[in-house]
Amino acid sequence: MSALFQPFELKDVTLRNRIAVPPMCQYSALDGFTNEWHWVHYPSMARGGAGLVIVEATGVSPEGRITPGCTGLWDDAHVEGMARIASSIKAAGAVPGIQIGHAGRKASANKPWEGDDHIPDGALGAWPTIAPSAIAFGGGLPKVPKAMTIADIERVRADFVAAARRARDAGFEWLELHFAHGYLGQSFFNPQSNQRSDQYGGDFQGRSRFLLETLDAVRAVWPENLPLTARFGVIEFDGHDDQIVPESIELVKAFRRGGLDMLNVSVGFSTMDANVPWGPGFLAPITQRVRQEAALPVSVAWCIDGAEIADLVIAEQQADLVMIGRAHLANPHYAYDLAQALGEKDPAWTLPAPYAHWLARYAGPGRPSAQ
Ligand SMILES: Cc1cc2nc3c(=O)[nH]c(=O)nc-3n(C[C@H](O)[C@H](O)[C@H](O)COP(=O)(O)O)c2cc1C
Repeated sequence: MSALFQPFELKDVTLRNRIAVPPMCQYSALDGFTNEWHWVHYPSMARGGAGLVIVEATGVSPEGRITPGCTGLWDDAHVEGMARIASSIKAAGAVPGIQIGHAGRKASANKPWEGDDHIPDGALGAWPTIAPSAIAFGGGLPKVPKAMTIADIERVRADFVAAARRARDAGFEWLELHFAHGYLGQSFFNPQSNQRSDQYGGDFQGRSRFLLETLDAVRAVWPENLPLTARFGVIEFDGHDDQIVPESIELVKAFRRGGLDMLNVSVGFSTMDANVPWGPGFLAPITQRVRQEAALPVSVAWCIDGAEIADLVIAEQQADLVMIGRAHLANPHYAYDLAQALGEKDPAWTLPAPYAHWLARYAGPGRPSAQ
């Protein structure tokens, strides 16, 4: 069997293979509530064969949403729709995961297909943003956020805890804290977006404090036997990585000591100045470094394009899981394609019986029609 189709165990959870669908916002919710779109979208990818399906960045508060179309878990009323998603992913043989987050200074934006930029202050649907410091991201996200008070920090931490509880109540078995992509957690860590002079800014310890305290508070309510993970950008490609990368690895070690079970390694996207070297598997080497130096299981995303590279990343122990996003949007049964490409003989590995039966028996050239 290929490395990619080996099962993976973390805490009490077993994934049937090393393929994960990463969180991908659908921008299709209203007031944080999921609907028919999400109820079909998520289980369809689980039916396609991935081992883990992670529900999109879900706001811990209305102000923490990226766009008005983002899902939420700030209200008990959100749990019912989310429970439907979790149980349908599970019924299809995948582990149901969810990412919770706060978008910080990148919040209050239009959906990507409606501009991907900040909704101007005062316009319908806009809301004020908060961040470690009153510094705008720039470009299409020009709003100057309010610098968070200590009370704001405590409130957001409590929002993370409450959302984690609701994720647990909804039946999710894998929780990912969104500390990446220039959103609130990442912007506390980044020295350019965090210029605070109190205990939540300044040196490495100060800039790590919000993330570590949030992890600690969530760990206390998230079941010990279930994986608690985070997505974090360990590299920025903005000319400051001599400082960022070593500090990030120190932070990941602190995450491990704080009870994190796995890191979803990503890019920081903290500034406008990044020059990301997009290309097949470009994050795999830094992911492997994090895995070795921080001694924590890791997953990697971004341009894991195709069966060969996906299998290689696992076989060479660069990562424990591969996150494959856009290919799953194009084809929810992408894991099945990967299995075929790697010569996996039994499609039941990746497809449920009502599909697998026909494809296994009749696959290949000259197949009889399935009458
Ligand atoms: C439509 C879309 C929505 C996304 N939403 C999120 C998100 O909610 N949280 C997150 O951490 N990353 C998000 N991402 C990034 C993906 O998780 C993933 O890292 C990215 O698509 C790269 O993987 P790929 O090259 O296999 O597509 C999103 C990507 C896409 C295409």
